[in-house]
Amino acid sequence: MVFSEKQESLVKESWEVMKQNVPELSLRLFTLIMENAPEAKNMFSFLQNTDEIPRNNPKVRAHAVKVFKTTCESAIQLHQKGKVVVADTTLKWLGAVHLQKGVMGPHFEVVKDALLRTIKEAMGDKWSEEMNGAWSQAYDLLAIAIQDEMKAEA
Ligand code: HEM
Repeated sequence: MVFSEKQESLVKESWEVMKQNVPELSLRLFTLIMENAPEAKNMFSFLQNTDEIPRNNPKVRAHAVKVFKTTCESAIQLHQKGKVVVADTTLKWLGAVHLQKGVMGPHFEVVKDALLRTIKEAMGDKWSEEMNGAWSQAYDLLAIAIQDEMKAEA
């Protein structure tokens, strides 16, 4: 598996920029997810019984940051170790959480599209196809690893 040093730094450097604007970033990510997969709304405990995505809600922020951060950390490991390794958590636990919440394969595509679009908007002039490709590859490999755990536990 090849994940180059350049790809690793594109992911790392863009996350350094984006993490300074987490409230906007997380709201945008969830808005895009809900636009493309409205049925996903009720899977999130903090979105049940509400018609709009709460602004500055710590839980909305937490999931968005975890998707960004885990993908970023996984990208670093991909380059250094050549495989998906997650920091601060385990793939087994990530698999169990998403299985229990009823997350399905296609949802990972919805979140991927929302993630890439959020990055494109957030990075503006600094965005490039290469940056997009690096995030895309890191996310795909992480999503596959999580789904493998989900299958193993189902
Ligand atoms: C919960 C990460 C993709 C839906 C979580 C948690 C983490 C996480 C770490 C636990 C949050 C906590 O309790 O602290 C990720 C990562 C993803 C990903 C790294 C992709 C690489 C998805 C997708 C969906 C999803 C595709 C479906 C649209 C959920 C839901 C919860 C959850 C519904 C429970 C949230 C709650 O109600 O408290 N995720 N997730 N996740 N995730 Fe994901």
